[in-house]
Amino acid sequence: MANFETQKELKISKCTQDVAFQIPMWTIQIADWEWKKNQLLSLVDWDNPKCKKDDGFTDYFLHLEEGCSYIDKFNIFLSEEFMIFTEKIQTDFYLRDLWAQRYYKQDGMACHTHGTSSFSGVLYAEFDPNEHQATKFMAPFNNFITDRNLYLTPPVIEGSIILFPSMLPHFAEPNKSFKPRTIFSFNLICKGSTKV
Ligand SMILES: [Fe+2]
Repeated sequence: MANFETQKELKISKCTQDVAFQIPMWTIQIADWEWKKNQLLSLVDWDNPKCKKDDGFTDYFLHLEEGCSYIDKFNIFLSEEFMIFTEKIQTDFYLRDLWAQRYYKQDGMACHTHGTSSFSGVLYAEFDPNEHQATKFMAPFNNFITDRNLYLTPPVIEGSIILFPSMLPHFAEPNKSFKPRTIFSFNLICKGSTKV
């Protein structure tokens, strides 16, 4: 924050700008992606009729009822990336929730958060940057001058993971392409969280 000079020394009024709070976001590119892509996509039963919804495929609700059958394998495939993230945030965490989503043409996801504590991630498993859009984030406050919502669409490529605070609102705009857009979404709960 600002360093103050004594009022006696100051000849011209002075204004400084500081950042009160920050919202961090990380992007991790997954090494050896083509191999991992096949491994990760083969974890999911894409033909499960319980997971076919009006707005595409999701095993989110199945996992709420039955748990995620592939969470341990996913953890192993992503162990290097999770290690990198542990070093970045200097905190241990565990993978609590995991689900897959496949958006076909016109499928999207309304604005939501993943809770109030720790971090969430989106892994872009089938993603064509020429046809698809990344997750769109909305600041939990408006532009201070115009009072309009603030949005951010991070640039992503297939095989990358966006990590963000779980409290950050986000959504997926309808897929304009005939190519499916497939993601894995997950929640990482930090060791120090009171919500463990
Ligand atoms: Fe989400």
